Amino acid sequence: MIPYGRQCITADDVEAVAETLQSDWLTTGPKVDEFERAVTDYVGAGHGLAVCNGTAALHCAAVAAGIGPGDEVIVPAITFVATANAAVFQNGIPVFADVDRDTLLIDPDSVEAKITAKTKAIFAVDYAGQPCDYAALRSIADRHKLILVADASHSIGAASELGKVGQLADLTTFSFHPVKPITTGEGGMVVTNDETMWRTMRRFRNHGIDNDSRQREASGQWFYEMVSLGYNYRIPDILCALGISQLKKLAGWIKRRQAIAAQYDNAFASVAGIKPLLTRPGVSHGYHLYVIRIDEQRFGKTRDELFRLLREKGIGVNVHYLPLNLHRFYRENFGAHAGQCPVAENVFSELLSLPIYPDMQNSQVEMVVDAIQAAVQK
Ligand SMILES: Cc1ncc(COP(=O)(O)O)c(C=O)c1O
Repeated sequence: MIPYGRQCITADDVEAVAETLQSDWLTTGPKVDEFERAVTDYVGAGHGLAVCNGTAALHCAAVAAGIGPGDEVIVPAITFVATANAAVFQNGIPVFADVDRDTLLIDPDSVEAKITAKTKAIFAVDYAGQPCDYAALRSIADRHKLILVADASHSIGAASELGKVGQLADLTTFSFHPVKPITTGEGGMVVTNDETMWRTMRRFRNHGIDNDSRQREASGQWFYEMVSLGYNYRIPDILCALGISQLKKLAGWIKRRQAIAAQYDNAFASVAGIKPLLTRPGVSHGYHLYVIRIDEQRFGKTRDELFRLLREKGIGVNVHYLPLNLHRFYRENFGAHAGQCPVAENVFSELLSLPIYPDMQNSQVEMVVDAIQAAVQK
C-alpha cells in the first residue's frame, strides 16, 4: 500500500530519542525548551509552547484568545473537527464559514458575512499546507477587534508573501502527528509574539499551576499554587528530542513535497477532468496534502468510484474533509445544517487526496498517475 502520507524517521532521530531516554528528564525538562526555541527560531516567532498534540495546541489558543461561554468562533467548513472543537471545549460556538472553490481556504467574504456581536475570533486553516489570505483576514480581524488564529497543522515551513507561517496571525498552532510535515509521534505547538498570551497558555498546559517541577527543583522550593483551571497538556522530552531532530530536515522535505506536487501537476495537465487545487500567488506551499478535484462529467467517474479503484490497487488515497456543518454533532448541538456553506458542500464530493510524503519515489508517483489514467479507460 502506498499511503497518502507517512513519517520519515532516520538514524539521527532514533539516536536523539535514545539519548534523551537516558537523560535525567523524560518530561518537563530542557528538551521541551529547546524544541520550543528551535521552532520559534525557524518560523520567526517570539514565543513557543510545546504541547501533547495539535488539538491541545488549538485549545490553548482558544484560552489565550479569551474564548468563553457563548462566544462565537469562525472556522472554515473544510477542516478537521479539532479546529472547531477548540471553541467548543471553552463552551464557545463554532460558526462555519465557506471556502474558496479553487484553494479550499477560508473565504474572507464569507468570514465577514458570518460576524456578529458575539464573534470573538477567527480560526483560519492552512488547508493542505497553503497559507490562507492573511492580509484579508487581518484586515477583517482588526476592523472587528477579533483574535486571528492560524491552525497551521498542515503548513509549518510554508510561507506567503507576508512572511513565514508562524508570523501571519496572533496565534499559530502546529500538529506533529506522523502524517504531518514533521512528527513527534503525537505533539503540537502554539507560537505567538504576545508574552501575556504565552504565559496564560503555559499555565493552562500544566493544570493552571503557576510554576513547574523544574522551576521548583532549581529554586529548592516545594510550593506551588493552582491559580486557574488547566489541563495536563505537557509533551515529554523524549518526543521533543524527536521534534528537534525532525525540524533540521523540514526545509529539504518541503522541497521534495513540492517536487512531487510538480510531477503530479505536470501529469494531470493532460488528464481531462482532473484538476489540482490552485496555489495563491506569492505562496511557498508546504504540500502536506496533494488534493485533486474530479469533474465527474469530464473524467467519466465519480470521486467515490476512483477512490475504490485506487484503493483496490494499493494506493492509499483519502478524503479531506467532510464539511463540518454536515457532521451530526454540530447539527445536533449548534444548529448546523446543509446549505450553510454551499461551496464546501458542493466541492466536497469532488475531492481526493493523493499520496505525498518526503520518501515517496518518482516511480511511485508515476504508479499513482498511471492508475488514474487507467481509470479513465475502465
Ligand atoms: C487542520 C487540523 N487541525 C488540527 C488537527 C489536530 O492535530 P492532532 O491530531 O495533533 O491533535 C489536525 C490533525 O489531524 C488537523 O489536520
